[in-house]
Amino acid sequence: MKALVAYFSATGHTKKVAQMLAQTLQADLFEILPQQPYTSNDLNWQNPLSRSSVEMANPNSRPEIVHKIENMQAYHVVFLGFPIWWYVAPTIINTFLESYSFENTIIVPFATSGGSGMGKTNAILSSSAPKVKFLSGKVFQPNVTSQELSAWVKSLNL
Ligand SMILES: Cc1cc2nc3c(=O)[nH]c(=O)nc-3n(C[C@H](O)[C@H](O)[C@H](O)COP(=O)(O)O)c2cc1C
Repeated sequence: MKALVAYFSATGHTKKVAQMLAQTLQADLFEILPQQPYTSNDLNWQNPLSRSSVEMANPNSRPEIVHKIENMQAYHVVFLGFPIWWYVAPTIINTFLESYSFENTIIVPFATSGGSGMGKTNAILSSSAPKVKFLSGKVFQPNVTSQELSAWVKSLNL
């Protein structure tokens, strides 16, 4: 089973989990980098005019990504990590999903958050990759251990 860990992380929390997961699984690691990096002003959820507020209020927003994976078809499983924004995945994750024609790929979402669960995340992500099988995802603490991650992956019966 060839696995990829792809993640977006604006402030480093999800990055920690992604790195630990890739190390635990001996999987390839790919950072989803926005063309325009998010500044702290962009991330201000208390300002309805901040970039993240504007993007998340528009389900059709598709922030651009810098790099593309050339051999996506080589991966059977893609662990897809992101922070929870406004109870769901940031719309750059929709950009990511719409950048590839996935075939027979299983996507396993994972996230970090300030307390929210995955909510309706999968339903929204599915609309960007209708043929893909999404497993129900999980929210982790940034300091999750390798043992915890490997027990989780085992429980997925991939
Ligand atoms: C714009 C924005 C919206 C957020 N919305 C939520 C939310 O709905 N629920 C929640 O628990 N945390 C929310 N958070 C907190 C992040 O999910 C949390 O800090 C996460 O660990 C950040 O991950 P990162 O460092 O990988 O970017 C939000 C953060 C930002 C910047």
